[in-house]
Amino acid sequence: MDHFNYRDGALYAEDVPLSRIAEAVGTPVYVYSSATLERHYRVFAEALSGLDAHIYYAMKANSNLAVLNTLAALGAGVDVVSEGELRRALAAGIPASKIVFSGVGKTRGELDFALRAGIHEINVESINELHLLNDVAGALGVTADIAIRVNPDVDAKTHEKISTGKKENKFGIDIDRAPEVFALAARLPNLNPITVACHIGSQLVDLAPYRAAFLKLAETASALRAAGIDIKRIDLGGGLGVPYKGEEPPSPAVYGDLVREVFGGLDYQLMFEPGRLIAANAGILLARVIFMKNGDERRFMILDAAMNDLIRPALYEGHHDLVPIVERPAGALEAPTDVVGPVCESGDTFAKGRALPDIADGELVAFKSAGAYGAVMASSYNSRLLPAEVLVRGDEFAVVRRRQTYEELIGADSLAPWQNGAVGQAAE
Ligand code: LLP
Repeated sequence: MDHFNYRDGALYAEDVPLSRIAEAVGTPVYVYSSATLERHYRVFAEALSGLDAHIYYAMKANSNLAVLNTLAALGAGVDVVSEGELRRALAAGIPASKIVFSGVGKTRGELDFALRAGIHEINVESINELHLLNDVAGALGVTADIAIRVNPDVDAKTHEKISTGKKENKFGIDIDRAPEVFALAARLPNLNPITVACHIGSQLVDLAPYRAAFLKLAETASALRAAGIDIKRIDLGGGLGVPYKGEEPPSPAVYGDLVREVFGGLDYQLMFEPGRLIAANAGILLARVIFMKNGDERRFMILDAAMNDLIRPALYEGHHDLVPIVERPAGALEAPTDVVGPVCESGDTFAKGRALPDIADGELVAFKSAGAYGAVMASSYNSRLLPAEVLVRGDEFAVVRRRQTYEELIGADSLAPWQNGAVGQAAE
């Protein structure tokens, strides 16, 4: 459930008409609903009630400081995957003790920064990383609490680009090697391996892969304990899917029941890293129709948003519902429409042959479910400005990331020393 609904024929974010935001901030603009973010977080937390469960929001889904702050106020920790995300988390006021650091390729500099910040745990994904982290911790005179991410070789049955738990994926260490790798970590003087971690993919719509992975994790953790490794926590990753297009992913409650079934009664602290589930349906991308273009064969809707603003359709064939801001009467005629942006490649297509009502040049439209992996994946391809972001709360809204300026876009470039003279002036 989200808080983007029609009222008297106009689309609102909570109590704010989206047309008002477009007027004030321009388009394209991402709009997030505080109430929806909060609701999703609470529903997930409640689904895990009775367990020793700790939620680390995967901030790669949406790392805006205002979004982080909203979730932090509910007690969320965060899962970060780069020094940049770690710095954002700290800037949003999330205590270091509620930050975990995942990722397959952390640099020495990033590990050093994380240890100095005193974060909760680092999720290690390879033997080389174990040695590097041991080194960095030794140099700082600290012992690092770590998780080791195992790869359970389970097919998450999701898009291949967001599947992470199969042997052929780059993530984690082979689960069969867990005993030897944990033993190695335990021998290294500056590491304290206490967590088994796993994340098999994103946008999972089926519980079966979770069940398979969880059973393997429980078995591995108890084998490690039997071998004398003091496993205290299990990190179950994120990945629960959301309905983009009528999918029926397992509800948080059903997922929670599975967690209880497998881990209830075992004495572990459980960690979760949901991203999409919290943020996806809490955001929309608001855009304006530049032109409707009726070709002989097809009807094109050309928007002022493009693949650089929302890349999911181009990258993963991702579906985002598109709705006009002015509601159409039920039963209004619809025609197949290709929804595209102005970027100069055919891949800049949001939808092909989508059944849409007649829409006029200059009208506003909204892509639904764009709160996760939307703004964070935006680029300035075609020298387009990074979009603005707005947070709504009740009848208030605020710009929480201003639109990039042309000075910022161009100003970081410079000429090479041998190119004396401004562009456009012949060198003497
Ligand atoms: N934990 C780890 C270690 C992850 O790699 C991810 C996502 C998550 C948690 C959060 O997964 P979620 O709950 O959001 O499914 N850009 C893609 C999604 C990439 C997901 C990468 N890892 C998309 O737009 O579909």
